[in-house]
Amino acid sequence: MYVVVIPFFLAAHLTVDQPWKHGPEYTFQVQVNCTAIPEESIYGSVRLNLVSKLICQPKTNALSCHFEDSKANSFVVDSSDPSESVVPAGPINRQPAYEINEDQFEIKFNARGLDGLMVNENIQPRELDMIRMIVGQLSVGAVLDGTRNDYTFDTTENFTQGECYTTFKIDKKLVGRPSYAKPSYALDPIFGLKDGKIAQIRKIRNLHMCTHKVPYFFGSAESFRDGSDIISEISLSDSQIIVTSTEIISSTSNVITTSKVTEAVITTLYENVRVRLESIQPAKSEPPAVKEAEPASIFIGRWLIDSSSEEDN
Ligand SMILES: *[C@@H]1O[C@H](CO)[C@@H](O)[C@H](O)[C@H]1NC(C)=O
Ligand SMILES: *[C@@H]1O[C@H](CO)[C@@H](O)[C@H](O)[C@H]1NC(C)=O
Repeated sequence: MYVVVIPFFLAAHLTVDQPWKHGPEYTFQVQVNCTAIPEESIYGSVRLNLVSKLICQPKTNALSCHFEDSKANSFVVDSSDPSESVVPAGPINRQPAYEINEDQFEIKFNARGLDGLMVNENIQPRELDMIRMIVGQLSVGAVLDGTRNDYTFDTTENFTQGECYTTFKIDKKLVGRPSYAKPSYALDPIFGLKDGKIAQIRKIRNLHMCTHKVPYFFGSAESFRDGSDIISEISLSDSQIIVTSTEIISSTSNVITTSKVTEAVITTLYENVRVRLESIQPAKSEPPAVKEAEPASIFIGRWLIDSSSEEDN
């Protein structure tokens, strides 16, 4: 059986005798790690870690999804090196405000990547932005040339935080080690991937060349909205998608500096978002419809897509 995992980008061959009645269900493991380091910090940093599962079923050029088992924690650490894996220096605090609700939504795709979302009209804007940031990992951002192995090109990419000029670096190489795990599926990206090879798509965003850019950090509700007294600037945004015949891992690293108009202290935020395909299982039923569905753009900070706000007028 052949199923679409990410429309226009990734399919999977399943070794099953009979097609599944309700089709497949994909489980993605989600991790969002944030480190906040105040400028004059000598004592360390504050971490916020979210783990969750994104459960999706395919529809035509779309995925119908919801989050499950979200768990967010924050804690203080002694280290001020964001790349260091660390032990909490104090109590671990549960952060329910960062745990995403389980309402159904849809992600629509076009040949480049994410095209739009369909969400419950009562969704909180802050929650919608958190969802955008995570599902943005499923977006390639450009049409790739399947005939070439190693190449680099620059193009305008629409991603959830803006529309920026981006360098794409594509590499396909042999994996050094054989894969011992034998899952019941083989992933098949649109650009073709021979057995034993790994494909790496790197995206380096040129943040000085954007027609639209939002200095968003995960879970923030207002830093970029009108009348906010917080000034933020995004100074780095790089992404990477790794595909083998058994795995896909997509991740983004952002660095944002932020300060309050009334205070001189600048805080630097380091964010890592990662989405990894964990399993493909038979779905138990058709995906539920999105309740009171409204289309929303992929862009953080914008509520409805432009065309629907025109309809409202
Ligand atoms: C990005 O999105 C905007 C708004 O939807 C659209 O006008 C523009 O053509 C898109 N650009 C690319 C490169 O997809
Ligand atoms: C998040 O932090 C945990 C614990 O330090 C670590 O195991 C994991 O690899 C990190 N994930 C990302 C995406 O940085």
